[in-house]
Amino acid sequence: MSTILQTIDLRMTYHVGKMDVHALRGLSLEVERGEFLAIMGPSGCGKSTLLHLCGGLLTPTEGKVLVDGEEITASSDARRTDVRRRKIGFVFQKFNLFPTLTAEGNLKLAERIFGKGSGNGERRREVLSLLKLESKMRHKPLELSGGEQQRVAIARALVNEPALILADEPTGNLDSENSEIVLSMLRDLNKKTNQTIVMITHNPEAAQYADRIIHMRDGHVVSEERPVAPPVPEGTELEGVHS
Ligand SMILES: Nc1ncnc2c1ncn2[C@@H]1O[C@H](COP(=O)(O)OP(=O)(O)OP(=O)(O)O)[C@@H](O)[C@H]1O
Ligand SMILES: [Mg+2]
Repeated sequence: MSTILQTIDLRMTYHVGKMDVHALRGLSLEVERGEFLAIMGPSGCGKSTLLHLCGGLLTPTEGKVLVDGEEITASSDARRTDVRRRKIGFVFQKFNLFPTLTAEGNLKLAERIFGKGSGNGERRREVLSLLKLESKMRHKPLELSGGEQQRVAIARALVNEPALILADEPTGNLDSENSEIVLSMLRDLNKKTNQTIVMITHNPEAAQYADRIIHMRDGHVVSEERPVAPPVPEGTELEGVHS
């Protein structure tokens, strides 16, 4: 097993006017390649801050983040952007899709901006089929259900084959039925492609889909657990995946 993501004594202090907000207070974490990790904790404990630091979207006040062995916190902006493009896919609670583009158009745009790919659409069609969206690829976001929009957002995160997927409450805007579909697909993908997933969630049931759950409080990890028997996904078998 190798480590895909490591944080070492990560500290993040935001300055708001004259106030210091200590969002992370020395957080060390290791995530194995192929692991599905869930992060839980009360609102304001620093979960999103941690995820943004891990993805190089923020620079920590102190400490290090290593992605696939490379310290992104010591890199130039250009280098960090390069690591992010090649290795990381983001999924957010608000799907952040471009409203004027179709499902396929949103993926094309991601390929064009972040991609290394050939641009011949092969991978694009593969991920759309993987997430059972073939019949929806010409739909614009407003012509899709919430669950379908989130699946497009996940497809977009996957289209460049990142080793690491960072998801901030991916089911936060979904009802329980769509949450189950999205979570089953994420776990299925994780197991079949060995892509690592770090997922923030407020929902204890969603966290059960992970291999490991860490609990945060006040900018620290306070405990971790392994779900005993993760639920078996039904009817969400995914095919034709390669990592
Ligand atoms: N850009 C910012 N400027 C100032 N303070 C911030 C900023 N972003 C977050 N914070 C503060 O840092 C702390 C951690 O915020 P963070 O968003 O990481 O929490 P969270 O665990 O993701 O919460 P939630 O579950 O509500 O999403 C909070 O006190 C928050 O108010
Ligand atoms: Mg958050």
